[in-house]
Amino acid sequence: MIVAVCSLSGAPGVTSLATAVAACWPSTPLTVPVLVEADACGGDLASWYGIDAGREAGLVSLAAASRRPVPVPASAEAWIQAGVQDAPSASEPLLHHAVELPGGLRAVMAPADPMETGRAVDALVSKPALLGTGKATVIDAGRAVPGSAGASLLRHADAVVVLTDPGDVGHASRLRVCAPALASLRQEGVCVGLAVAEPCLHSDEEVSQVASGLPVWARIPHDPVGAALVRGEYRPPTRLRDRLAAWRSQRRDPDGLEWMPLIKAAKALAELCDDFSGIGAASPVRRAIEAGAA
Ligand SMILES: Nc1ncnc2c1ncn2[C@@H]1O[C@H](COP(=O)(O)OP(=O)(O)O)[C@@H](O)[C@H]1O
Ligand SMILES: [Mg+2]
Repeated sequence: MIVAVCSLSGAPGVTSLATAVAACWPSTPLTVPVLVEADACGGDLASWYGIDAGREAGLVSLAAASRRPVPVPASAEAWIQAGVQDAPSASEPLLHHAVELPGGLRAVMAPADPMETGRAVDALVSKPALLGTGKATVIDAGRAVPGSAGASLLRHADAVVVLTDPGDVGHASRLRVCAPALASLRQEGVCVGLAVAEPCLHSDEEVSQVASGLPVWARIPHDPVGAALVRGEYRPPTRLRDRLAAWRSQRRDPDGLEWMPLIKAAKALAELCDDFSGIGAASPVRRAIEAGAA
C-alpha cells in the first residue's frame, strides 16, 4: 500500500501529516510502515531529528538502487521460516534505505539540498518499483502541482491525500484549478481525497464542490503540541508530580498520544487509507511487481 501526502501550495503541514500518518499506521509484526521523504524541495526530517541524512540509507540510495533491476523478494513468512530475525527488512528492499527515528518509525530521509533531492525524486518517478516493495509506504510528496516531479509521483500511489487550506482564498483557487488533474488520477485506479487544514469555516460539501467532487477524508486540527511531537521535540512529563498535574488539568493520559488532535486525526486517516488496501486499491507499481512475482 502506497499513500502519498501532498499539497498544492504553501499549506503548512505536509511533512508533519505524512510523518504522523506513517507513525500511526495500523502495523503488525510483518507490516512495518515506512515514511519516504520525497519533497523535491528537500528534506526536513534529518534536521528535525538531528540525524545525518547519510548516503548509505536514504532517498539518494533508494533512487540509485531503483535504477537496478528489482529482485523479487521472498515473503516475510519465508524469511521467518529460514530463521531470519528481522524478517520484514529482509522481505522489503525499501527498508534497506530507511533509518529508525527515535520512537521507532522507519524513514527514508531526503537530503536538505533541493538539487540532490530533486534528482532523486526524478529518478524515482521513472523507476518507482522499489517504492512498491514496502507493505505500508507513506510518501511525503511535498508540493505536487500538475507538471511537477511530485505530481508524477502521485501516479504510483494507491491513495493520495491532498492537504489543503480552503479557508485561504489563494489556496481555494489553486485547489479549484488543480482538482480536475487530481481527480483524473482516479481513472488510473488511485483513490484521491482531501485533508482540510483547520480552522476552516467551510463544510466538507462546500470544499468538495470546489475540488471537482474530491471527498474530504480528514480535518487536520491546528495542534502545536502534536506538531512538536512529530518534529521530535515533545517530551512527556516524567516526574510524578508533573504527570499528575497534566492529568488533573486536562484529563490527559501522559503516556498516550491520542489526546493530541493532530495524532488523533492522523490515526483516523491512516486507518481509512489502510481500509482502501482491503477494497483492492493497487497502484500500477505494486501491480507490476506482483505480476513479476507471479
Ligand atoms: N497541524 C499542525 N498544527 C500546528 N503546527 C503545525 C501543524 N502541522 C505542521 N505544523 C508546523 O508547521 C511547520 C511546517 O510544517 P511542515 O510539516 O514542515 O509543512 P510542509 O511540509 O507543508 O512545509 C512546522 O513547524 C510544523 O511543526
Ligand atoms: Mg515538507
